[in-house]
Amino acid sequence: MKHIVSGIQPTGSLNIGTYLGSIRNFVKLQESYPEHHFFLFIADLHAITVPRDRIALRKTIKELAALYLACGLKREKLSLFVQSEIPAHSQMAYLLQCFTYMGELERMTQYKEKSQRQVAGVASSLFTYPVLMAGDILLYDAEYVPVGEDQKQHLELTRDIAMRVNKRVGEFFTVPKPLIPKVGARIMSLIEPDKKMSKSDDYIKSRILLLDDEVIIRKRIMSAVTDSDQTIRFDKSEKPGISNLMTIYGAITNTSIETIEKQFETTSYQDFKKAVADVVVAELKPIQERYQAIIASDDLDRFLDEGSAYAARIAAKKVAKLNHKLGLGRKR
Ligand code: TYM
Repeated sequence: MKHIVSGIQPTGSLNIGTYLGSIRNFVKLQESYPEHHFFLFIADLHAITVPRDRIALRKTIKELAALYLACGLKREKLSLFVQSEIPAHSQMAYLLQCFTYMGELERMTQYKEKSQRQVAGVASSLFTYPVLMAGDILLYDAEYVPVGEDQKQHLELTRDIAMRVNKRVGEFFTVPKPLIPKVGARIMSLIEPDKKMSKSDDYIKSRILLLDDEVIIRKRIMSAVTDSDQTIRFDKSEKPGISNLMTIYGAITNTSIETIEKQFETTSYQDFKKAVADVVVAELKPIQERYQAIIASDDLDRFLDEGSAYAARIAAKKVAKLNHKLGLGRKR
């Protein structure tokens, strides 16, 4: 069976950037690839490259698991699990570190940005993080990996590592391909539209959370930073704020940017923002309702246990095989 693999870090409440760049895409892909099995996980090992409050982390893990399902994923052919529950992820990361060069990791833009922002010591796991991610993907021989634009470089590294291992030990890993959505692959901050909308941004007003109520959603969109030109035209460098709102509208309603420009040719920024708020509220309402039901039931834990057991079997075999190919252990 062919596999599709992806993960999301439980580093804060989910926002519409992550939703439009990833979860929403997973839901669509389940329809376009009905034969593929999906391995989707909560990347909690990735979250502890910086210190976290353990109570808050555990709460976010559960919240994220419920949101995956609330966003409309079908349970057939889906293994949903928590990364740290499968030891093979950490084991594979170590094996792959032996195939990854320092120079490659030093070139990763996310590492450069995140390490610069950090005031206290930078953990070595922040540096080796892309290798853990490569392991997440290669363990399951993923054919496709749906991600937002910011993960493209990590995917390229994953492909390089896979090819390097294959060259050393013979055909062993499937070399994965990224699947990046055409619209919505990079949703920007609402107040600094030249920056990515991020779970870890200090400004709460920069994002819309999937669980925000209607009043907050409308307030955030109405106060999104735009420009003084007042024409609804897509221009990422000159008009990043309005272009971002157009992207959000286009991604949710499946409308092309050209159509949006025509449709709102004579509309004021104020009225366009109202239209964006309307579609965001309508999109999130059913998700929020489903979320409340899922988080309150025991069924979520059962589904995660099943997902974890299925994924763990595949992952453990892959690690054992690679150990063997590399000459580790005693058995021939
Ligand atoms: P994370 O948790 O930062 O983001 C999860 C997914 O959401 C996408 N995304 C966005 N897309 C559009 N606009 C945004 N503003 C935005 N913010 C986030 C990301 O591109 C990503 O697809 N390292 C990964 C998690 C991970 C993973 C993996 C992904 C760990 N192992 C294996 C795929 C396969 C991360 O930090 O994503």
